[in-house]
Order: sequence, then C-alpha cells, then structure tokens
Amino acid sequence: MCGIIAYIGTKNCKNILIDGLKRLEYRGYDSAGIALLCPNPKAGTSSPALELKIIKEAGKIKAMEEQSVDPLINGTCGIGHTRWATHGAPTRVNAHPHMDCSEKLDVIHNGIVENYAELKEGLIKEGHRFKSETDTEVIPHLMEKYMKKGLLGAMQEVVKKIKGSGAIVALSTEYPDELVGARISSPLIVGLSKEGNYFASDMPAVLKHTKNFLVINDYETVRLTEDTVEIFSREGKIVTREPFKVDWNISSAEKSGYEDFMLKEIFEQPFGVKETMRGRLSDGELDFDELNMSPDQINRLNKVQIIACGTSFHAALIGKQVIEKWAKIPVEVDLSSEYRYRDPLVDKNCLFIAITQSGETIDTLAAIREARSKGAKIVAITNVVGSTVARESDSVIYTHAGPEIGVCASKTFTAQIMVMYLMGLYFGRIKKHISKDRFQKIIRELENIPDKIQKILDRAGEIKIIADKTFKFTCFLFLGRIFGLPAALEGALKLKEISYIHAEGYPAGEMKHGPIALTDAKTIIVGIMPDDQVYEKILSNLQEAKARKATIFSLVTEGNEKIKKYADYSFQIPGTLEELHAILTIVPLQLYSYYIAKNLGRDVDQPRNLAKSVTVE
Ligand code: AGP
Repeated sequence: MCGIIAYIGTKNCKNILIDGLKRLEYRGYDSAGIALLCPNPKAGTSSPALELKIIKEAGKIKAMEEQSVDPLINGTCGIGHTRWATHGAPTRVNAHPHMDCSEKLDVIHNGIVENYAELKEGLIKEGHRFKSETDTEVIPHLMEKYMKKGLLGAMQEVVKKIKGSGAIVALSTEYPDELVGARISSPLIVGLSKEGNYFASDMPAVLKHTKNFLVINDYETVRLTEDTVEIFSREGKIVTREPFKVDWNISSAEKSGYEDFMLKEIFEQPFGVKETMRGRLSDGELDFDELNMSPDQINRLNKVQIIACGTSFHAALIGKQVIEKWAKIPVEVDLSSEYRYRDPLVDKNCLFIAITQSGETIDTLAAIREARSKGAKIVAITNVVGSTVARESDSVIYTHAGPEIGVCASKTFTAQIMVMYLMGLYFGRIKKHISKDRFQKIIRELENIPDKIQKILDRAGEIKIIADKTFKFTCFLFLGRIFGLPAALEGALKLKEISYIHAEGYPAGEMKHGPIALTDAKTIIVGIMPDDQVYEKILSNLQEAKARKATIFSLVTEGNEKIKKYADYSFQIPGTLEELHAILTIVPLQLYSYYIAKNLGRDVDQPRNLAKSVTVE
C-alpha cells in the first residue's frame, strides 16, 4: 500500500505535500518522494519559466524531508508519494516519483501494474530508457508515448493499456497549469478548496486544508487546475458529480470510516491474503525466488526450525503441520524467547525460519543471531520492508498485508498463514512428496480463500449477536485439534489481548487431563470443529462440558445443522480442505473478540500494557 498526495493552487506546496505524506505514512513507509514545478532561475527565451525538481529518499519521510530544505525547491503545483515496496527494493531509485525519458513528466502511483513486464519490453524496444526496477515506471514512459494527445489524453491511454490496480497522478512542465489523475481499483479522492485542489489516497492527508471532497470511481480520469475539476468517464465523457463534506476528525478519518483500526484490518483480510499470493501463485504454478534456495539445497534439508512470538507463533504451528504433511521435512517450532536459552541443535542442512509481523521483536532477533552464530541459513517472514529482522536474514518473504496499525495482529496473521501454505506446498513439490493433482487441487482452493474470507466478513453481524449475548462470561476455553489448535490458541490470545477476559486455547483431547475442572456455568467453550478427522472427538468434548453446565459456541462447516442440538450458539464457515480451514476459522474468532471487547468498552486498537512491536526482552 502506498500513499499519494498532490496539489495545484495558489499556495507554496512543499510543506503541504510533506505534511500530507506524514499523515499517510501508515500506508507505507519504506521510501518517499515529492516533485514540484519550481520557478526556473535561468528562465528566458530558451529556457522555460518552470523546471521540475524531485526529492526522493529511501527510509522514512523524515529522510526525504531533510533533503528538501533548499528554499528554491518550492512551487504551487506538486505531487508526493510514500511507498510500500512491492516491485523492487525500497531504494532511492525505486522511490516515486518516476520520470519519462524527456524528464518533463513525473508520475506517482499506488497499486500494481500486472502487465508491466510486457509493457516495459515493448517500450524498451521503442527506445525508452528505464532507471528503476518498479512496475510503476512504465506509466511515465507510456504517457510520454501518447503526449501528443495532451497530458489528460496520455493518462487516458495509460488507463486503457495497464492491467492491475492503481491510483495515478502526473504533472508535466509542458502543462504547468494542470494535474491529472486516474483511478483503477486503488483509492483516490479529490479535495476542493478556495486556494487550490488536491489529489490524495485518503482524506487525512488533506483534512487540514479542506473538508470538501469528490470521490473518483474506477477507470475515471481527472484534470485539476487551480480552480477547476473535470472528471471523465472511461469513454472520455465529462462526468458531473456533487462534492461531499466531512466533519471527521483526523484520527477517525484515518480509519477510513471504520470505528477502529482493528475492525478495518479484519475487513482488509481478503485483500491482504490475495496480495500475499500475488506474484507467487499464478496459472497453477508456485514461484518462491525470494527464498534464494536451489532445489538441491531444499532436497538436502533435514530439518526446519521455526521461531516466533505471540500470533506469529500460531502461524508457525500451522507451518509445522503443512511442511511436515506436504514436504515430509521434520519441523520444530519454538517460542523465540525460549529458543536462545535452550542450547538448540543447528546444522547446515537445517533451515531456520523467523516469523515476525513487525520484524523488530527483540526475542526473535536474538534467536536469529543465536542460530546464525551456529551456521544456520535464516529466512524471515515479515510484513515490514527494511525491518531489522529482514535486514539480518539471508532471505526475506514479505507478507503483503499492508501496514497494520492496531496493536492486535489480524490481517498479518492470515497473510503469514498464507505464506506457510505456499512454502509447505513449494517444498512438497520440490521434494516430490506431493502429487501434481493434489498440488493443483490445493492451489485452486488457495485461490478461493480470499472470497471465502469475504463471505465470513459479510456475516459479521451474526458474530456480533453472539458476542452481545456472551460478553459477560468470565472464563473462555477455546478448543481445537490438529489444524484447529493454532486457531484455538490465536482465538484465545485475541480475546485476552483486547477484552482482558481470562481465556485459554487448549488441545481438545487434553480437556479431561485437567481443564475440565474449570468448567461450570460461568464457562463458555468455543469449539473449533469444522468437518475433519477429529470432528466427532471434539463433539464428545463439548458434550462433556455441556453436562457440566458450560455454554457452547461452535464453529462448524457450512451445512452442519446438527450442531444446533448440542451448541447454544454456532457459526458456519465455508467448506475447504482440512489443511486450510485455520485461515477461515480465525476470522470469526477475531470478530468475536472484537465485539466482546467493544461490549466491554475496551480500547481495541491500543489495549492496555501492549505495544505493537516488542523491542525489549
Ligand atoms: C498479536 O496480536 C500481539 N500483539 C503479539 O502477540 C505479537 O504477535 C507478538 O508480539 C509478535 O510480534 P511480531 O510478529 O511483530 O514479532
């Protein structure tokens, strides 16, 4: 996810752009850049009145800001971008804005140009010279090709030619009185004010200057001048649209209308999971170049060691099961905080995987250092580009869930699970322990997962009703087995974190070895029991609990009406393969914790005592 801001008007805009980017930083923060049309000190008969100046830098916006202090870098028309790298490392060269060959045109883009390789090849053959590794850079070159149609005409050609998603804004020294933009599935809004007009990815970027906005729809293009806005349909026809006014404060607007970041992030999961598959899974094939491992190295693996903390640890438990099942490689899973103190055995044929959303968790970092000192090859799975764990690992697999602001992990968890599935399958295929048919069947089902998550989210209201009726219970036991166990552990962790209610995740088969003693009328048992080999066994556990007056809430597979005989509450999840159901069952459990916490009046985004990344031991 990237952030876009642009301005054309009567005010000097360098600070408007930098301030706007800071407000969009949650959308991406591995590099940033601005481009302004600045008065040309050499203006005269042979030199134009305005020249294009670009400042961009890898790292946080501050790094870019420090380079923009020159007072000559200023003007009343400019564009700015904060990046969340997808194609190409987070370097200065890959940072936006990107130019055409003539260096008169500059472009910012939020999204992915899926057909960039094919477009780039054609443009290079036509003589265009590329500087970066980004998909975005095809856009200024494509526009350059069509500039005879004017700046807006060139943008309209881009909209016809690119496949994928994007919010795009461009400016040019040849058209100093206008800014043009386009939207293809990525957010783009127009802000209106007496002193000028704005493009932005999200309202917080410009709320300081205006509360009047226009929405832009997919495939529309827009021309802004200092005092006019023209919107054009896909067919090039003028569109008339009424502006709307918001009375949001900045912090609520950052949540894009959701009450909390956590809720927003839960609802972003279909997108996060899809983004994590993108580029790795296509046309039934799996590509994992980022692992930097040859088939020989994979075939030689005698062990995989995964370490992680908290939610990431639960993703590791799913990873263990799929890697062992599909690739037949033994997997050990440790909590990072335990691993480094237990004198672990590591050799050169052991692959060491660290899972960490933030890439900054100190225990995970320390475990990596311990394993490295013993000669292990380290692979990091993280959501944060350029994080310390990413930098200290031999290879990095990024989850592309987008920045997660709520302290409680949600969308990054499902993205981590997706990486585990892809990795297990990839190893299984290389080690030839999984047949082509089975492999294809799993891949096809993985591709259905985002839609199945969406179907669950569409029924969030059903979970809310159950939460409204059960939030006063004081003891929650989440029971699962096999693939349901990590989901049970994660469900309990979510509830503890944001509601402060005592909750335990437990292997259902262990109930009678102790926890059943806890069961009474104040207990609610959450049974994670989709259709699988242990369904009947968990059903027996629930009946035992019910006989001891516990209340039962069951997560079952679509079509299971029989459960209503045993459970006080139930929720049906879409059917899927046994190995994949955890990525679905966790979604209603996240919603359940969220609605219970809201009933209790908790601050779900910033629960007490917790930090988003734990950088102290
Ligand atoms: C998750 O909701 C928690 N906030 C916490 O358990 C978290 O998963 C843990 O601190 C690990 O963080 P990491 O993935 O950034 O390393």
